[in-house]
Amino acid sequence: MAELERLVDRSVLFTSGDRDPTEPVPMRFKTLAPEQHVLMGDDPRLKKMPPQPTLMDFFRLRFAPAHHLLQSATHARKAGMNEKVITACLLHDIAILGFIRADHGYWGAQLVEPYVDEEVSWAIRAHQALRFFPDESVGYTYPEMYVRLFGADYKPEPYVEEAYRRARKHKWYMTARMITVYDVYSFDAAATVNFDDFADILGRNFNQPDEGLGFDNSPVAHMWRTIIWPTKFL
Ligand SMILES: [Fe+2]
Ligand SMILES: [Fe+2]
Repeated sequence: MAELERLVDRSVLFTSGDRDPTEPVPMRFKTLAPEQHVLMGDDPRLKKMPPQPTLMDFFRLRFAPAHHLLQSATHARKAGMNEKVITACLLHDIAILGFIRADHGYWGAQLVEPYVDEEVSWAIRAHQALRFFPDESVGYTYPEMYVRLFGADYKPEPYVEEAYRRARKHKWYMTARMITVYDVYSFDAAATVNFDDFADILGRNFNQPDEGLGFDNSPVAHMWRTIIWPTKFL
């Protein structure tokens, strides 16, 4: 029904991997009915976002369920980690939940970079590479799950190994390493965790822009807007 008025073209068509992007596709917008336009705003299939959206609005209205992030942050808090580590754990996979899976540590770090302490975004970026490399000093071993997911003979690409070596020498190495330590899926299924438990920590460690995420003219505002309106034609 909605398409009668607004044609929703798939903006991710070129990067989704669902098809070879160099192959021509029918340009659906070239056959618009006279009264029909393309979508340039809210996608009727998605929940409506408020005009000045907060991080919590994105978690509620755009991101996949955040159990894994809440679990990681809970583990970190129970272990007595400081607020930067807990914040980093709470946000470490934000890109997977709301944007893109490939290179998610880099995308996620970039999304939150203007709003968190430099140490937090640095750690989120670095966890991407550190996950593949053990650190026996803190009891972190190569994840069993990775053997299952990637195969026993999987070896990270050289750029990942280089990122690991750089991170190893960095003053904030342990902050990123702690993300990998608490980045686990094992959790008491009966335990209920939600964002309210971390509202105070987020309030102190995530600098919410007054204009709303996407509208503060930050270097990453466009990324938040794309999550708000992922199917906008332009
Ligand atoms: Fe991750
Ligand atoms: Fe994770």
